Amino acid sequence: MKNNLPEDFFKIYNKEAQNIFFSPGRVNLIGEHIDYNGGLVMPCAITLGTYMLIAPNNDNVFRFTSINFDETLEIPLQNGYQKDSESWFNYPLGVIHYFSRSGKELGGLDMLYYGDIPIGSGLSSSASIEVVTAFAFNELFQCGFSKLELVLMAKKVENEFIGVNSGIMDQFAVAFGEENKALMLDCDTLDYEAVDSNLDGYILAIINTNKPRKLAESKYNERVHECQIALKALKQELEIHNLCEIDTDTFNLHKDLIKDEVVAKRATHVVAENERVKLAAKALANNNLKEFGKLMYASHDSLKNLYEVSGAELDAVVEYALTDKNVIGARMTGAGFGGCAIALVKQDSLESFTKALSEYYTGKIGYAPSVYSSHIGNGVGELNLAQSVYSSMDNAVCELQEA
Ligand code: GLA
Repeated sequence: MKNNLPEDFFKIYNKEAQNIFFSPGRVNLIGEHIDYNGGLVMPCAITLGTYMLIAPNNDNVFRFTSINFDETLEIPLQNGYQKDSESWFNYPLGVIHYFSRSGKELGGLDMLYYGDIPIGSGLSSSASIEVVTAFAFNELFQCGFSKLELVLMAKKVENEFIGVNSGIMDQFAVAFGEENKALMLDCDTLDYEAVDSNLDGYILAIINTNKPRKLAESKYNERVHECQIALKALKQELEIHNLCEIDTDTFNLHKDLIKDEVVAKRATHVVAENERVKLAAKALANNNLKEFGKLMYASHDSLKNLYEVSGAELDAVVEYALTDKNVIGARMTGAGFGGCAIALVKQDSLESFTKALSEYYTGKIGYAPSVYSSHIGNGVGELNLAQSVYSSMDNAVCELQEA
């Protein structure tokens, strides 16, 4: 089923798909919970992602189906839409909402989605589905939006349609990702550079804690709010627009303005994490992976103790990593509260790492994690329906295979 999406499309809609688009998921190497504070982040696109097959219809409706979920939706073309309960199709529906509001001329479409990103794992399946939809609509209806405009639209879906106050990192990474490169993105100016991620004898392992991220959205919005309180307090003496404009020294001089101890802890993480990203970029440029790994551990420690977005499951992964001589760095990635961690593991040791980690983790948590070795892939694009759908799927599956 998975490797024959055009056939699936035919079975569902009784006609051939006209186009296929793909948008990846992402991992963030370092720079966590600072995108919404105007900070520096270092995400990369992975080879898992969302496929979207599409064909026009003459019925003036949008039809959504997915291989991953049973729920389907058929909705007429109209001037705007509203979030519908908690269904998966809210993400593409949100995108279509903004397209329909943009005054561009749209037409009826039959759509089929398939994602091979583990759902709820913190690898940005939602950004992936938003961006693939925005990209497809832009191409199909020749709307002429730039890629950055599509990214901003997808972020708006997340913030206003879905109701999560997330930053721009995920949508940006899945749209602009480049093979074997990490994006060094300044979330204040949106300037970015694609930097070589030469891992030199190491591989990036993705460890899914398999913990459902239940509280993630409310806690996420709470952190965003705490950062806003910290910023407001600092603004009494500093002329700044976001927390990441200041360095640790300046922060320490004015920290007393923040009266709430918890809020002060959050801001301490934000300022230090931003500095860690600068050091990490230098380490990567100098091929100093050991230093990069140390910064990953420091980042995790800060997310655990100051920002408090980790949890027993993510901590167990990092605790194990610290004891394994074949691992030089590990940390949670993404929003936290479950989801995935990443680790830099010596190339020939992935198997022993997986085995020993699984034993440790299962002993501590009560169920097993899933470990993947990851390849850094390209951002959103159109695939060749006739030729490349199968090979792309195969790549995705074997490049990010469960170890
Ligand atoms: C989620 C959000 C991002 C970012 C990360 C944490 O993935 O969507 O904007 O804030 O959490 O770094």
